[in-house]
Amino acid sequence: MKQPEFGVYVHVPFCASRCDYCAFATWTDRHHLIGDYLAACVTQARAAVEGGLGPVTSVFVGGGTPNLVPAIDLFAVLDELPIVEGAEVTIECNPDEVDLAQMKTYVEHRVTRISLGVQSMVPAVLATLGRVHDPENVRRAVDAARQAGIDRLNLDLIYGAVGESLDDWQTSLAEALKLRPDHVSAYALTVEPGTPLADDPDRHPDDDVQADKYILADEMLTDAGLANYEISNWAKSGQECQHNLLYWRQGEYLGLGVAAHSHIDGRRFWSVRTPERFVSAIAKGQSTEAGSETLDPEARVLEALQLSIRTNRGVPASVVPEEVSHLVLVDEAGTARLTRDGRLLANEVAVRLEPRGE
Ligand SMILES: C[S@@+](CC[C@H](N)C(=O)[O-])C[C@H]1O[C@@H](n2cnc3c(N)ncnc32)[C@H](O)[C@@H]1O
Ligand code: SF4
Repeated sequence: MKQPEFGVYVHVPFCASRCDYCAFATWTDRHHLIGDYLAACVTQARAAVEGGLGPVTSVFVGGGTPNLVPAIDLFAVLDELPIVEGAEVTIECNPDEVDLAQMKTYVEHRVTRISLGVQSMVPAVLATLGRVHDPENVRRAVDAARQAGIDRLNLDLIYGAVGESLDDWQTSLAEALKLRPDHVSAYALTVEPGTPLADDPDRHPDDDVQADKYILADEMLTDAGLANYEISNWAKSGQECQHNLLYWRQGEYLGLGVAAHSHIDGRRFWSVRTPERFVSAIAKGQSTEAGSETLDPEARVLEALQLSIRTNRGVPASVVPEEVSHLVLVDEAGTARLTRDGRLLANEVAVRLEPRGE
């Protein structure tokens, strides 16, 4: 019988430097808390297991920069979890911090997949994004991961930095593809409120240019054998990220650490945002929950459709209203999937879906 799916996300909120487009919960000046923070995550994981946490079929360690912290402390958290044989275990890594010894340790601890924050393969573009690594480090990091035996590799790319030409973006895609990833996430640069990028309108991307870059990405990635399976994600057949698929199917998961979201028995809840508050709550035996919500059945159905339309699973054609029907293709089974133009306007389609009768 197939194992019911259950995911665990672990958030590591520490970075060597902050990129000025990034709004994730991460800090560059709290490294003294790393040991206490991961020990608190161990306590949180242990309590979840004692509370009946079932078999874990996928793990995603994200950040921040998970490969900045000592592997031994990170695996102390994962070792608490009842991870099933053959589970997908992904660790998000920054190229600068990757080395062969680290990758070997990851493999020994059953890590199956590395997601590398590449962003661009053009030095001038990396500089305008405020990134500190260079493309050579990306190549070294990929070599180290492969040499250690990690064969599932995602590369994260961002398009839309100020000064990035269409040629630059083509170079990034071509150089990334030379590294033979089985998965690429290509994100449109998003202006997140409260970031230095948000305060600088001269650096905000132009929508038309972004659309051209999306189309170029889709063409080049598809030609290289990576199929689009969610708006911003392309993979070789069978190499889709199981953990993200779980999110997009409204599956259940537990989030460990700060700002981590959970979805269990239909309830969503999320943790406090700062490492100090998290460590202190765990030390006092208090809840780390900062908020929660439970969707009513109607909202849940609508959300399921809105998530599904973003993926290649699509939605029943009956929920797509006439006004956006030109943005989907309907197959013989009556499943509607976004066309490429539709993917560029996915939010517009999603808000118009009509779940009545579903
Ligand atoms: C939370 S980051 C963690 C990965 C790692 N720290 C790194 O940056 O290399 C995950 C990915 O989100 C994407 N990302 C973060 N902020 C973004 C933004 N404002 N717009 C588009 N993509 C963003 C980047 O591609 C990044 O690799
Ligand atoms: S993008 Fe990644 S490296 Fe940059 S600040 Fe955000 S989490 Fe840290």
